[in-house]
Amino acid sequence: MTTEDHVAGAGDPDLPGGRPRAYTIAHLPGDGIGPEVTAVARDCVDAVAVRHGFVVEWRTYTLGAERYLVTGEVLPDAVLDELRKIDAVLLGAVGSPEVPPGVLERGLLLRLRAELDLYVNLRPSKLRPGVAGAVTRHPAADLDFVIVRENTEGLYAGAGGTVHRGSPFKSATEESLNTRAGVERCVRHAASLAKKRSGKLTLVHKTNVLVNAGSLWKRVADEVAAEQSIQLDYCHVDAACLYMVSDPGRFDVIVTDNLFGDIITDLAAALTGGLGLSASGNLNPNRTGPSMFEPVHGSAPDIAGTGKANPAGAVLSAALMLDPLGEAAAAAELEAAVDTVLAAGGASSTEAWSDALTAEVSR
Ligand code: IPM
Ligand code: MN
Repeated sequence: MTTEDHVAGAGDPDLPGGRPRAYTIAHLPGDGIGPEVTAVARDCVDAVAVRHGFVVEWRTYTLGAERYLVTGEVLPDAVLDELRKIDAVLLGAVGSPEVPPGVLERGLLLRLRAELDLYVNLRPSKLRPGVAGAVTRHPAADLDFVIVRENTEGLYAGAGGTVHRGSPFKSATEESLNTRAGVERCVRHAASLAKKRSGKLTLVHKTNVLVNAGSLWKRVADEVAAEQSIQLDYCHVDAACLYMVSDPGRFDVIVTDNLFGDIITDLAAALTGGLGLSASGNLNPNRTGPSMFEPVHGSAPDIAGTGKANPAGAVLSAALMLDPLGEAAAAAELEAAVDTVLAAGGASSTEAWSDALTAEVSR
């Protein structure tokens, strides 16, 4: 179920330098507002591609609630195999009230994260000029950190089960899986990011209660920090929630496990202007396959079709995608375009956002 809809960018054979750089990107619009926000993100990518001399071939894949409800398929192996060979994936959002919880989350999103080995979930959290965060008493400059969330293990690994179904002894277990290698590769990624920023890394966990996983994470973080000569702080996850509100300036790069990362990145989103502005990258840093980029918000069926969806999170996710493709200048331009629109007061509809961003990126 693949459609090659169009090729955009600097495909002009007369351009100096011969063949332009070319990327094949899978577009998974998904459900609800997913198609609305990723359409804007795609247009923005196409616009910066022309200016920066590269070509994007978009391939659209219909995955999500709609496909599941019609065909019963969540992620056919044939589609997964095609995705493995692509340069990057841009995902809108999946989910619908008609699909039982877990079907698409586990069967599509978590399966993609596992199968494509997207072991880092990168979530930059920055209060941008012109944006009102949920807490206003701190200088905006204090709210600029990046959360590196482990993305394939922990409580998301799928270990556990239900026994004695239908009896009073029914039991349900979810186990947190933490492998030395899985923790280490995530911490190493966070450490190298910290080195490029302020040199400061904070491990967020709950070592006082989750003593098994906690001591593994702590030991690995201590070792990597010593080896890389970076400053390592430690913060329990409950205290981290408090400090993110009361003293966010203490954070620069945070590394944490899968579920803690899921929770604190929503808090970070609220502090930096809401889910509509929040971007994320599911990264395969080894580049054995594509990385996948998606706004943090969901499919928001309540506002789908109203024209109110904010595409900024999707556009910022597309900017995150361009960077590892080797198009850092185009990525920076896309992010700057969002910043300019936000600084001017933002836009009140998807279309207004699209117009304002298009004007910025074609300036
Ligand atoms: C996120 C989402 C997902 C997660 C869900 C939809 C599976 O909340 O990307 O943060 O829990 O990781
Ligand atoms: Mn989440």
